[in-house]
Amino acid sequence: MAFNHKHLIDITEYSAEDIMTILETAKTLSEVNERRIKKVPTLQGYTVVNMFNEPSTRTRSSFELAEKRMSCDTINFGGSSTSAVKGESLVDTMETLNSYKIDLVVIRDKHAGAPQLVAQHTSAHVVDAGDGKHQHPTQALLDLYSIWQEKGSFEGLNVAIVGDILHSRVCGSLVPALKIMGAKVTLVAPQTLLPARPDVLGADYVSSNLDEVLPEMDVMYMLRVQRERLEEAPFPSEREYHMLFGLTQARDALMKPDALICHPGPINRGVELDSFMADHPTRSVILDQVYAGICTRMSVLYWLLGGNENGSAS
Ligand code: CP
Repeated sequence: MAFNHKHLIDITEYSAEDIMTILETAKTLSEVNERRIKKVPTLQGYTVVNMFNEPSTRTRSSFELAEKRMSCDTINFGGSSTSAVKGESLVDTMETLNSYKIDLVVIRDKHAGAPQLVAQHTSAHVVDAGDGKHQHPTQALLDLYSIWQEKGSFEGLNVAIVGDILHSRVCGSLVPALKIMGAKVTLVAPQTLLPARPDVLGADYVSSNLDEVLPEMDVMYMLRVQRERLEEAPFPSEREYHMLFGLTQARDALMKPDALICHPGPINRGVELDSFMADHPTRSVILDQVYAGICTRMSVLYWLLGGNENGSAS
């Protein structure tokens, strides 16, 4: 298999075959997480920098764990503990780190475009771990992995992405990724949380009526309301948002019997969905998504750092 990508910054540069290769390798690597010694020597000697300039629980911890599982050497830093607080620019920081002969940089930043900038100032591979409102490609891959594990394929699958589309980098990667894999995507949001041109994202349908859409869907993907990015009040109250766009226990009966519930986390319980739906024993795959974060990131590291040249993944 030819995997010809230096970076993972823009999911639209990846084909269905590339994505399927990452998912299948993630499936193989998931077995490593079941062993007593959860480690393979595959990427021994590679140095990875995790640069998190914005808060993260899931992405940061799962990248660190994925790197450890694959035996990479890692440097973890970012935000207020770096010389950025003394005025050092992102470019100077990157050129400094590049002097260490690093192999791969994982970057999260509040500025859209930061990963592209970093890629211009390092010879290392770059993985976007979420940049501003732009993209979050490894989140899209772990979402696809979780859906694939439950549904078996993507062709013709009806997926609704609900909520704060306007501020969502998850949406920026997930909509194109689902379309590349053959799914049908419906965006559901109040008009005030939709971009001016929702068609640019590539979704098939746009609606502001959750109850109309709900019975047709195979997957309900609930987006976090990004309180930290809301510049004005886009809805009167969180209570009203929850009534109109929240996945509530009352709406359970409207869903297909085998429809799934996804959320990228962190959850605002009582806003995007209530606790009954978040913890739903058969529908919710939210914690499976968290677990998929390790396997898919192990796979991304494997393929970007040489794939078959490093021998078998596990
Ligand atoms: N989904 C996600 O990116 O979560 P974190 O912000 O906790 O990494």
